[in-house]
Order: sequence, then structure tokens, then C-alpha cells
Amino acid sequence: MEFSIKSSSPEKQRSACIVVGVFEERALSAAAAVIDKAAKKYLTELLKRGDMEGKAGTTLLLHNVPGTLADRVLLVGLGKNKDFGEKAYRNAIATAARTLHETGATDGTLYLPELPVKKREIAWCIRQAVIVALDTLYRFDQLKSKKDNPPRPLCKLTFGVSRGDDMAIAEAALGEGYAIAEGQKLMKDLANLPGNHCTPSYLAEQALVLGKELGLGVEVLERADMEKLGMNTLLAVAQGSHQPPKLIIFKYNGGTKTAKPVVLVGKGITFDTGGISLKPAPEMDEMKYDMSGAASVFGALKAASLMRLPLNIIGIVPSTENMPGGAAIKPGDVITSMSGQTVEILNTDAEGRLILCDALTYAERFDPACVVDVATLTGACVVALGNVATGLLANDDGLARELLDAGQDAYDRAWQLPLWDDYQEQLKSPFADMANIGGRMAGTITAACFLARFAEKYAWAHLDVAGTAYRGGEKKGSTGRPVPLLSHFLLARAAAARKDVKKSRRAKKKA
Ligand code: BES
Ligand code: MN
Ligand code: ZN
Repeated sequence: MEFSIKSSSPEKQRSACIVVGVFEERALSAAAAVIDKAAKKYLTELLKRGDMEGKAGTTLLLHNVPGTLADRVLLVGLGKNKDFGEKAYRNAIATAARTLHETGATDGTLYLPELPVKKREIAWCIRQAVIVALDTLYRFDQLKSKKDNPPRPLCKLTFGVSRGDDMAIAEAALGEGYAIAEGQKLMKDLANLPGNHCTPSYLAEQALVLGKELGLGVEVLERADMEKLGMNTLLAVAQGSHQPPKLIIFKYNGGTKTAKPVVLVGKGITFDTGGISLKPAPEMDEMKYDMSGAASVFGALKAASLMRLPLNIIGIVPSTENMPGGAAIKPGDVITSMSGQTVEILNTDAEGRLILCDALTYAERFDPACVVDVATLTGACVVALGNVATGLLANDDGLARELLDAGQDAYDRAWQLPLWDDYQEQLKSPFADMANIGGRMAGTITAACFLARFAEKYAWAHLDVAGTAYRGGEKKGSTGRPVPLLSHFLLARAAAARKDVKKSRRAKKKA
């Protein structure tokens, strides 16, 4: 798909289809009013007749509208003007993209980004428009022999903006939106791929492919390397599987030589059976999504590189299957982690934390500015927050704030849970430094408490995406979350880094 921005008036726009919004109670948006005027009240008449009410999600496709140069005009219902916020805007974009794709208009011009979305400026509207449009049109059909694409798919989208808008800002936002959407697509492609295709070795191969494509440094540690490093909890999870484990390390150097890196760590369990503590059969197929954290690290690195962010970023992806078998870990086994702390494995299904803890210890060698891990870690998080908010826990309030704000900005929201010491007691073990589970209560928090013991040397945050990284049921599929959140987090860090560089330049000049 190709994207561009134009500031021409809608009635003068040559296009297969121009898209304008109509609010409920028959109120035309600004662009719709311009068309109405050029068409001598054609739209007003239509609305009067009741052909379109402006209800959210409804559309009306018009051909040969008088006074316009476009082949078609698509009216999109926006709902009530007074409620028009982020969610309604995103829905309008999704409806427009879906309808254009299906009606055979191969290119469209959307006069939606100029709509008055509460508290949001044009840059936000454009970024979101690209992200939502590509998210809506995404299909995973790699493994189908017959693809069911429409005969004339949408391949070009233009966003109409008002003359008063700053074109440079709009263009920059378009680039950012595209980068984030590409990162999100990469995450979805990896996560939707089933466990027999997407193995730890496959992820390692794809990391090398991505590295070549974007000029990232990529290193893959093999079992022997991990043995040398003493990554025994990671290896313990891997020992039940016939697939060799991999530890993937990405290096993106966009920042100054001395800038400490942001480290992203992603859980890469390519299939989670539960191990000896076997999961029940229903919906077990969804455990192919247990590498969503890993996939989001791939996606965030892709977005950051496409945006050429002036940051140094390290990605760490510990990857293995969690399988039962003669060689698998057993409940009661005690393992010494890379950090030297010992862990009693009471439930082999709490494997995510076992691979993450060694990755967090490994992260120390990069002297991180901060570490953010992403993991489909606990079913308890789905119970607590459902499919709406990602769980956030952190040992640093500033970092937590940054991630919460990034989530708001990206419309990929997270909600913080407490990481108080009081919960640590639930991890007590009579045989080791800690157990790998903390009982039935506060499962998301005790999982994070476990990780926190391996993240004491730096500012750290944990995103539990068990409820948000994929949808189950009828619309089963990866959502690409939290790539938008991570991308906005990195964007904000990049803006701060740019300011710092300017400041130090000014200081040097003075001296
Ligand atoms: N991958 C699962 C968490 C999960 C569950 C993600 C449901 C998405 C949907 C994780 O490895 C796991 O099995 N966690 C256990 C931990 C428990 C044994 C303490 C869980 O949540 O049941
Ligand atoms: Mn598990
Ligand atoms: Zn898991």
C-alpha cells in the first residue's frame, strides 16, 4: 500500500473514491459540507431523505456526485459529534479502509484525519490512520492455497488535510505511522505462524533476515553458548523439547556512542504445552502465540530502524518450546539460574519467567538505560484486565509513567499493578531461593515479583500481554500489540535524546 498527503479541496480531488464523514443527527463534517456545496445540496437532500443517519459504522457509497471530480464519494457515519474521540476516529478509519477495499476503488482519498478528534492534533490523526488502515486490511494467508483477496484491492491511500496544517509535520507523522504499522505487521506474521513452522530456529533465521534488511547487528547464542554462560533456567525449559533453544540478540545503533541502550526483552516460547504440568486441551492451539513478546521485540526494532530513531536499542529474545517428555523438567526440580539464585520449579507451566530471568541477567552486560520485557506471562492478567489493557509492573516509577503515556498516545494502553515487596513472600520455597509460582492469588504480580529479583541492577518494566497480544475465538489472530506502545515509547525517548544533543551542542559553543 502506498500513502500520501494532500491539502487540496475535496471537490477538486481526482480519485477513485473520496471519503468524508457524517455525524449523527445529519451533521456534515467540514469536508462533507464542501462537497455538499459543490454538489448544490446533494448530500443535504440525501440525509433529509434518511438514506444515511451518520451512525457509527454505517456507510453510503455514491457515484457521480455532481460538482466533484472523483468517481465515487463514500460517506462514513461518525456517530455523535460530541462523543467523537479516539475510539470513534479509529473505527471510522477502519470502516473506510474495509469499504474501499471491498468496493473495488483501488485508490482512495480520506478526508478523515482533519476531523476534530478530542485533544488530538493532525500528527496523531495521520499516524493512527496509517496504522489502523493497515491493521484492518491485514490478512494471514501464507498457509492457504487459495487466497480470498477482493478482485480490485485498495492499493493507494491519500489523506486530505486542511490548508492550515503543517505539511512537514503531517509527512513526518505519515512516515512514523507507516514504520509502526510495518513493525506491527512483522509481529503478526511471526505470531500467527504455527508452532511447527515458527520454531526457535525459525525465529533465529528471521532475526538474521531482519538484520540484513535493516542493517541491525544480530547474534544468535546456541545451547553450548548458553551452557557456558550458565543460563540454566532457560536451558531447563528447553530440555524437554527436540527443538534446539536460541537466544537472539539484536543491536540497533542509532544513538551516540556513549548513550546507554534501551533493552527490550521478549518471551519467545514458540509453543507452550505446559510441560509435565500439562495444559488442558481446549484452546491449547493458542499457545503458539506464546512467542508474542519476542515477535513484538522484532516489530519494535523494525519500527525504530525504519524511523531511524537516534537511540541505541538492544533486543534480547530467549526462545524455546515448552514440552513434556522423558528429558523434561519435573515439579520439584531445583535449578541454578545464571544470576546464581536457585529456583524450585513447582509448576513447569510457569516457564516464561524461567527463560526471562536468565535473559534479564544477560541484559546487565549492556549497561542499560532501562530494560522493558514483554511476555504473554500469566492467565491471571487476562482475568484481571481482559483484552483491553496490557499489565504493567515496574521497579521505577519514571519508566512506568513513560510506558503508560506511550500506551495512551498509541491507543495501545497499559495499566499498572503494584510490585510491592509484600507479594514477594508468596514465592518462598523450603528448598531453594525461590519457587517459580506464588499460588492462586495475584498471579500477574507474583510472576513480576519473580522477574524483579533478576532486574535489580537497572530500571526495569514488565509488560504482561497475555490478554492483549492476540485474540482468541472467531477472530483469532495476533493483534500486533504492544508494538505501537513500544514504538511510541521509543519515539518519546528519541525526542528527549534529540533535545539532549542540542543542549550539549549549545553548551559546547558557549565554552
Ligand atoms: N503462556 C502462559 C500464560 C498465558 C495463559 C498466556 C493464557 C495467554 C493465555 C504461561 O506460560 C502460563 O502457563 N502461566 C501459568 C502460570 C501459573 C502456572 C502460575 C498460568 O497463567 O496459568
Ligand atoms: Mn506456561
Ligand atoms: Zn507460557
